Amino acid sequence: MLHHFVVFVLLVACTSAQLPTLYEYYTADGITSGLSVDQPYFTLNGKNITILSGAMHYFRIPPQHWRDRIRKLRAAGLNTLETYVSWNLHEPENGRFDFGSGGTDMEQFLDLQTYLKIAQEEDLFVILRPGPYICAEWEWGGFPSWLLREEGIKVRTSDQTYMGYVTRYFGELLPLLTDLQFTKGGPIIAVQVENEYGSAPTKDLEYIRQVHDLLRDQGIVELLVSSDGASAGTSGTLPDLIFQTVNFGGSPTWNFDTLKNMQPGKPIMVMEYWTGWFDHWSESHHTVDNDTFYGIYNEILAYPASASMYMFHGGTNFGFLNGANIGAGDNSGYQPTTTSYDYDAPLSEAGDYTGKYEIVKELVKKYNPVETLTPDQPELVPRVAYPSVTIEGQLSFDEITKLVPDIVTSDTLLSMEQLPINDGSGQSYGYTVYRQYSLNIPADSVLTITGHVRDTVMILINGVLVSDSLSSSSDLNSFGYYRQANSNITLTSTDIEDATLDIVIENWGRANFGNLYQQFKGLIDSNSVYLNNEELTSSWSIIPLEFKKSWNTQVFQWNSVDGGLANGPGLYRGTFTLEDDAVDTYIDMQEWDKGIVIVNGFVLGRHALIGPQQSLYLPGPFLQQGENEIIIFEQFTPAAEIKFSENPIFKTV
Ligand SMILES: *[C@@H]1O[C@H](CO)[C@@H](O)[C@H](O)[C@H]1NC(C)=O
Ligand SMILES: *[C@@H]1O[C@H](CO)[C@@H](O)[C@H](O)[C@H]1NC(C)=O
Ligand SMILES: *[C@@H]1O[C@H](CO)[C@@H](O)[C@H](O)[C@H]1NC(C)=O
Repeated sequence: MLHHFVVFVLLVACTSAQLPTLYEYYTADGITSGLSVDQPYFTLNGKNITILSGAMHYFRIPPQHWRDRIRKLRAAGLNTLETYVSWNLHEPENGRFDFGSGGTDMEQFLDLQTYLKIAQEEDLFVILRPGPYICAEWEWGGFPSWLLREEGIKVRTSDQTYMGYVTRYFGELLPLLTDLQFTKGGPIIAVQVENEYGSAPTKDLEYIRQVHDLLRDQGIVELLVSSDGASAGTSGTLPDLIFQTVNFGGSPTWNFDTLKNMQPGKPIMVMEYWTGWFDHWSESHHTVDNDTFYGIYNEILAYPASASMYMFHGGTNFGFLNGANIGAGDNSGYQPTTTSYDYDAPLSEAGDYTGKYEIVKELVKKYNPVETLTPDQPELVPRVAYPSVTIEGQLSFDEITKLVPDIVTSDTLLSMEQLPINDGSGQSYGYTVYRQYSLNIPADSVLTITGHVRDTVMILINGVLVSDSLSSSSDLNSFGYYRQANSNITLTSTDIEDATLDIVIENWGRANFGNLYQQFKGLIDSNSVYLNNEELTSSWSIIPLEFKKSWNTQVFQWNSVDGGLANGPGLYRGTFTLEDDAVDTYIDMQEWDKGIVIVNGFVLGRHALIGPQQSLYLPGPFLQQGENEIIIFEQFTPAAEIKFSENPIFKTV
């Protein structure tokens, strides 16, 4: 096997000497035109091209690994990288922008220009999908949550309030990209207008026209494209102005024939061929087997068509940034997406080659008529299981809430987005505590929350959790979780006087698809709280638990664990020292229950025993030589240590 491999490499090296790079092949004689669809096949700068693309999102990959993942894509023989752009990260507060040096918590992920330049350095073209709506299983489909503060705002329509914000955002984003267009010497060969608008619940084509015009007015000169399921037809696009592509997971020939009928005489392309799928919490890990993948990708390239694989490398929904499905819109059919966005793609979450990678390589070689120089396949990024870390410090929930600076007092319930914090942008992510003081709670009292909660609830009396933990998927059908409307809980078996009641609500990720308008989190106006059929109406103290880096990295006065670990909710801390450069690892959370994991101040993501995800990808670059700190916010039952694993762990649900 090894011998065979060496011979193969030598052969490639010999023939490679004569091969041009992609840019040499397409641009050696200067650049006179971009991607053209004026004939039934694509040309770029006048030369035929089959677009062989893969999706990888810069905001889901640690930037220190960008080049590794991009080179792996190129080494498979692909010629194009596709990425979405995430508005919620680039403008996390109203009017505060971050493109890599804005000082926000996700700053390190946000240097989009560098990401695109690396793609060009690695000899790739780029398809850019700037939204503003991107779906992507990403928090609210990429919308910043502060948009919700505008009463009645209608995202994804020509609503003036919404379009005012889109215009301002594109006014910041697009000038950074104009020089990176192909005909200006950069990598971007096509730009998508909005995203799968044919599936939007309300279609307002005036909106699509306005987004189109904004792109053109701001200097986007390359080909503009749309992408939709073939059955959406032209319902979400403007065929005269925008070139159409289709999205699918199977039946390529039917999809392409349908596209051909809609758009005769034009090239054929799938913008999203789904290589695998994403996971919601409480589902089993999704995979698409190798043979199925082989058959479909083969049928696509044989058609012949251009294709972008979604995903080529899924990556991770770091922090609180996963999206969700919403179903009916009242949250009863809510399904939050996991932190891992592995997607069962050609590259795994941690960048390993999977069986699909070899298949891509084989089929691209077979079908691509234009041979160019490709790099050797990069070696794997090293990964280890570090020794377990012992929990040495803890903080109770009451202590945690005392460390929150911005406590809001309100006579009415306010959603987290409506809180007067963050320079008028409200709370975007995390947990919100709704507190009542001095309550008399007689034995067997029943607390009722009307409506569906968004999304989970913990009830504490005098700092002690009285609601149930989440240990299996069926618990999602009980009090405290989004599926139940108007649900109740019996609080105590004894009388409690002068009690402090905490209702802790978690935003488990805003919906990214379907009915997107009502995405408020926390206790919203369709929720009321009753104690023994009497509405709680005295003033609320509302405590935003945002877990921002500046808060997470304070020096807390940790309590010892010598007397044992206290039950959650609480913060639990362990530290460890690395002598050498850190490498990648997975944190094994199988002994923990539910909450979030914070590494050196950065919220890595969520853990939940219900699965399928049981481990969190921890990129080496998020660790450092010397001391490292892991803090776990555990809602229920903490474990005595934090374990690591070399490989990801999925649980069958
Ligand atoms: C470009 O592709 C078309 C369609 O396959 C083909 O007819 C044409 O000959 C190609 N042109 C060149 C220069 O290879
Ligand atoms: C796909 O192929 C790889 C490599 O041969 C193998 O490890 C993997 O288990 C296969 N996956 C499936 C789902 O069959
Ligand atoms: C609590 O909920 C249960 C089940 O939904 C219901 O049968 C019961 O009447 C409720 N109790 C009160 C006091 O509302």
